[in-house]
Amino acid sequence: MRDWLRREPVVLVRGLGARLWDDEGREYLDANSSIWTNLHGHSHPRIVGAIRSQLGKVAHVSALGFANEPASRFAAELIDAARGPGRDGRKLAKVFYSDDGSTAIETALKLAYEYARRTGPKSGKPRFLSVRGGYHGDTIGAVSLGHIDLFHKAYQGLLFRADAVMAPYCYRCPYNRAPADRRDARLGRKCAWECVDQVANKLSKARSRGRPYAAFVVEPRIQGAAGMIPQPDGWLSRVAALVRSHGALLVTDEVMTGFGRAGGRGILASQAEGVTPDLAALAKGITGGTLPMAATLATRRVFDAFLGEYSEFKTFFHGHSYTANPLGAAAGRASLALLRAKAGTLARERLAVRMDEQLERLWTHPNVGDIRRVGLVAGVELVRDWRTKVPYALEEQAGIRVCAGMAKRGVLTRAIGNVVVLMPPYCTTRAELARMVDAMEESIREEFGARSV
Ligand SMILES: Cc1ncc(COP(=O)(O)O)c(C=O)c1O
Repeated sequence: MRDWLRREPVVLVRGLGARLWDDEGREYLDANSSIWTNLHGHSHPRIVGAIRSQLGKVAHVSALGFANEPASRFAAELIDAARGPGRDGRKLAKVFYSDDGSTAIETALKLAYEYARRTGPKSGKPRFLSVRGGYHGDTIGAVSLGHIDLFHKAYQGLLFRADAVMAPYCYRCPYNRAPADRRDARLGRKCAWECVDQVANKLSKARSRGRPYAAFVVEPRIQGAAGMIPQPDGWLSRVAALVRSHGALLVTDEVMTGFGRAGGRGILASQAEGVTPDLAALAKGITGGTLPMAATLATRRVFDAFLGEYSEFKTFFHGHSYTANPLGAAAGRASLALLRAKAGTLARERLAVRMDEQLERLWTHPNVGDIRRVGLVAGVELVRDWRTKVPYALEEQAGIRVCAGMAKRGVLTRAIGNVVVLMPPYCTTRAELARMVDAMEESIREEFGARSV
């Protein structure tokens, strides 16, 4: 807090495409997509037009006992877009709206809890399993599911217990199964999926003790706030099959990964692995980064557990004043249409290839330990030396210093500890992307020296 008070913040007043301007007219590139929310660029005319047009009709109406056109249409479109090449015979069928990622998770958590109470074993309280390093938001339920001590430990007394399994953090694999480092082929041995075995053990033990898990909660394909940690291909589908075979629900937190951010052509990252969750939380990019809105998608099986006659009081007792906000839904519909257009899909695929091309040159720096990209998310992990992988202490602010250097060069992004994030809006041009990576490279060299491997 003192650091924040010591500095004058950059006051952002305008945006267009991947660019932002401050109150002194200085131009920046938004290399963090405004905290992972922006998809198609700032002030996109289609989205702005949709919000304006809805504003001319009505800005908000209650969803308690009423419906509104944009929200109902958007729900149908989300369900259609979430229909993946699922090989598991499941289908998401219903949408519950809320306001942000944390509330979308809170909704999923309460649905899973109540579903388990109504349909599962009667002994004990429903229990949850999630992934070490996982981050699911800052409300109490979401914090309980998370496993980042720095953010979560202080609130321990307020939380319920969620068990954790190891993350498949290949770069720091405790079994030394990391994919071979291009700079040293001796690193890494053949992966035998020990991390998946650990999930299997955890699920089996819980079941044999008569206290099976109600749900497994996971950020699919890549963990965000843990430090941009990708899951190797096949991890999610293997884990999903195990979770199912133990009778637990699969809850995917697609708050960061959804809407194409973690790649693939669908709106859910899990679609890329042929996995359909029982509950999926979407937020951040849902309105293209314009208005706060979120959605929790559920299968018909989960929905049906809440059906009953009035006197049974089986309804889902949960809601927010701005649930199903028509302005947000109008923005969401416009954003989804852009996302699903063929030109949009091709542009995203092109941008992903360009990110690899641009980031390639950072491998020559000895303080760059790992470069990870999934879809249109990349993380560059800074280390003391690439050979030893020893991390910088948090107090050294390695990532923060690199980001400050990038801001000086007109590129805004944010680090997660030692991991510098590159998450460009989908409209970022080749030249803009090159400027983002130039700024990162120059800033790394400025902070840690200009040596090369
Ligand atoms: C995976 C994930 N889930 C949930 C959240 C919480 O979202 P919000 O900040 O919109 O509450 C975040 C935010 O970064 C996230 O990355």
